[in-house]
Amino acid sequence: RAPAAGRGRAGSHGSIERVSTPAAPRPVVLVLHGPNLNLLGEREPEVYGTATLEDHVACARAAAEARGLDVEDLQSNHEGDLVDAIHAARGRCAAILINPGALTHYAWSLHDALAAFDGPVVEVHLSNPNAREPWRHTSVVAPVAAGSIMGFGGIGYELAIEAIARLIGRASCRERVYSNV
Ligand code: DQA
Repeated sequence: RAPAAGRGRAGSHGSIERVSTPAAPRPVVLVLHGPNLNLLGEREPEVYGTATLEDHVACARAAAEARGLDVEDLQSNHEGDLVDAIHAARGRCAAILINPGALTHYAWSLHDALAAFDGPVVEVHLSNPNAREPWRHTSVVAPVAAGSIMGFGGIGYELAIEAIARLIGRASCRERVYSNV
C-alpha cells in the first residue's frame, strides 16, 4: 500500500533523508604584537606588569572562545612581518586586535596595511601612552582603528575582544538591546 499523503517516506521504507549543513566557520580574530612585547613579564614590570605575552594572548583567547571566536596570534620585532600578517588576514579574518608597541608612534606602513583590512581593528596598549613621554602621544594606528583601549593593563585584551564581538555582531540579544555599539 502506498503511504498516506503527508506521512513522508519514513517507516517501513527506511530512514528520513537528512540534509546536513556544514557548521559555519568560526570568525577568526588576528591578535598582533609588535617589537619588544615578547619581553613582557621581564621588561619594565613597573610599567607593563608581570604577565607575559603568553598570558595576555591566553586571556584574549579565553574571552574569544566565550564568544565563539577563534584567535590567531603573532608577535614580531619586524614591521614587515606585521604588514604581511595584516595582508594575509584580508578576506580571511573577521577582526584585528593589535598592540603595535613602539611602532604605534611612527609606523605608517602599519597604518596603510590596516586601512586596507576590511574588518574592525582595535588598538590595545597595556600602559596609557598619553600619560607618558610626549613622543608616545601620537598613534598612527588610531586613525584606522575602530577604537583604542589603553591604560588598563591586561584587562584591555578582554575589553578589546568584547568590543570586537559586538562590532562583528556576536553580541547577545540583551546586549544588542541595551548597547549603542
Ligand atoms: C605599549 C606602549 C608603547 O608606547 C610602547 O612602545 C610599548 C608598549 C603598551 O602596550 O603600553 O612597547 O604599546
